[in-house]
Amino acid sequence: MQDQAIAVVIGAGTMGGGIAADLANAGWTVHLLDQTVALAEAGKRRVEQSSPPLLYVPELAGRIVPGCAEELSVCAAADWVIEAIAEKLVLKQALLSRLESAVGPETLITSNTSGLSLTEMSKHCGMAFRLRFFGTHFFNPPRYLKLVEVVPTPATSSDMLHEFIAGLEAQTNHRVVVAKDTPGFISTRLWITHLLDTIHTAIEQNIPVEVVDALTGPALGRPRSATFRMADLVGLDIIASIAKNQYESLPDDPLRERLRLPEPLERLIADGRTGQKAGAGFYKRVGREILALDWQTLTYRSRQEENTALGKELVGTILPRFFGYVEAIAGEISDSEEAIDNAMCWGFGWQKGPFAMSRRAPDPPATPALSEYEGALVFELRGKLNVFDPPLCAAVLEAVSQAEARGCPLIFTGQGSCFSAGYNLARLVAAMERGDLEAIEADMKQCQETFLRVKHATIPTVAAIHGYTLGAGCELALHCGRIVASPETALGLPECAVGVIPCGGGVKEALFRFGSAQAAFEAIAFNQNSTSAHDAKKRGWLRESDVIVRNADQLLVEARGAARLPVPKLTGSPAHIGVFVLPASLAGHDRVIAQQLAWVLTGGPTDEAALLERERAAFRVLALEPLSIARMRTLLDTGKPLKN
Ligand code: NAI
Repeated sequence: MQDQAIAVVIGAGTMGGGIAADLANAGWTVHLLDQTVALAEAGKRRVEQSSPPLLYVPELAGRIVPGCAEELSVCAAADWVIEAIAEKLVLKQALLSRLESAVGPETLITSNTSGLSLTEMSKHCGMAFRLRFFGTHFFNPPRYLKLVEVVPTPATSSDMLHEFIAGLEAQTNHRVVVAKDTPGFISTRLWITHLLDTIHTAIEQNIPVEVVDALTGPALGRPRSATFRMADLVGLDIIASIAKNQYESLPDDPLRERLRLPEPLERLIADGRTGQKAGAGFYKRVGREILALDWQTLTYRSRQEENTALGKELVGTILPRFFGYVEAIAGEISDSEEAIDNAMCWGFGWQKGPFAMSRRAPDPPATPALSEYEGALVFELRGKLNVFDPPLCAAVLEAVSQAEARGCPLIFTGQGSCFSAGYNLARLVAAMERGDLEAIEADMKQCQETFLRVKHATIPTVAAIHGYTLGAGCELALHCGRIVASPETALGLPECAVGVIPCGGGVKEALFRFGSAQAAFEAIAFNQNSTSAHDAKKRGWLRESDVIVRNADQLLVEARGAARLPVPKLTGSPAHIGVFVLPASLAGHDRVIAQQLAWVLTGGPTDEAALLERERAAFRVLALEPLSIARMRTLLDTGKPLKN
């Protein structure tokens, strides 16, 4: 797959639009075709209006060109044509026949089917076409789910397939799992059987739906949507149709009978209670409350998820059965256990796949770790959201000293879903509630000194960031010689939302990066965290010299490469301080905080020491404000920001 290739996506629905957006994110030109130009244009509009956004930045929509699938001439010059029309074998077969005479001699053709046989789909096509044809099963929404199941047929050229996979993984944020051409491939086969087995078991053991969700979500290293919330999201009618297809096409499946719908599920579907889209399913929202289904009456009642004792046998029943099932069918669906685990982790957000789970590998320790990688030292932030506190700052200082003593680069990374969500707010708010200014001053000073030490280290420093890189996490990154960011990065300084201002050198670095006090002020006061790494570059959080990787899994490799580049000059005064008037939109306590922020930016000299001094002085003032304390306490206790 060439860099900046041309793709044609046929079918501008949910998946076609999502895939087109994702290839536009990779810098490709994408022709998005549907039955009429109007339908294709509507598909493009849905992409532009999607929330959460499918594009890294709105401008990338310019790379998507709508067109009509009656006219396939654009396919001749395409590197890749992706079929994403309705899941009907005859329709897909008819389209492939038309494509056969339309594509160029080198064009790859793939189908986004979620479970139809690729061999059957292409059986009427000639050998030259079948060599270049296979399945590419994306997950919805493609930007946010990195799995692509690639499904070759016996006719697919394996050299070409491997070249395609390498290209896709290098140029997009996706990872590939190769699956065999069997019904539901790896992902749908395991997911639907495990889901329905869990539902049957819950009914047999009479376990309330919300208790099942409390037991099968984060408690098992899986998303909060767990079992029934996920089912409502997908749609009970869709689940029924997938289960029926799987039941019919898998006569020898060891858990085949579990694919039959349990009676309560059939009755919900018959009632039109098909999940979230219908307003009711296993759960129903009534006003502000979400009620749960009662198995006996099929009516809704208040939830009682804390009562997990009610479901004590559930996990002990479903997990061993699932592990046994996976073991039994593994060879039929894939060539490797690792691929099966990866499919469940990358496609469904599980922390561990069935093989890793059944082996019960120990969890990694929660202390920061220093390791070596290709001659560089790598410092991995660890712990809950990798938040900063005094021991972590001390460990960072020690890492800088070690890297300097060895004369090698130092790379910072974060374990888990983010780089770092910021400073430990529980610790901070406790000191604020005690009015302990001395403790607050000591923490903030240590934080500032740590990040300053990173900035002025004599060795190259690189922040390899992903996910939340907020507050102190952002400050550490801004003090590194270079930032290497994964595409999905939320970078910014949201401290004002919790009643304070950045105090680890963040205001100072924002002033240097943004070049004017007003721009730095707006970025911090209006909480302009990035929604992607591209957005961070557009907003000015990332410099030209910072790097955005295409595939998050290449972060460390690219960070190591960046550590070899000359360090860009980062110090220097802002172009001008300027004078600005506080926007009238900032009212109430927002205005009090904004005044402090404006004073740090404009209230005196702009050398590093003076700026840091002012950050701490303003922080001390805000730390004693009851409204600031209320903001921080509310966020910690409820997870929601308080506007006061
Ligand atoms: P959809 O119903 O949202 O979109 C299908 C689009 O194809 C429609 O815009 C329709 O007008 C167009 N279309 C139908 N026949 C056509 C033809 N002959 N030529 C050109 N356009 C045509 O469907 P969705 O959900 O996007 O699914 C598309 C494919 O992706 C299906 O094979 C589905 O099984 C698969 N899939 C769907 C997932 C999902 O979550 N929705 C996930 C993974 C795969």
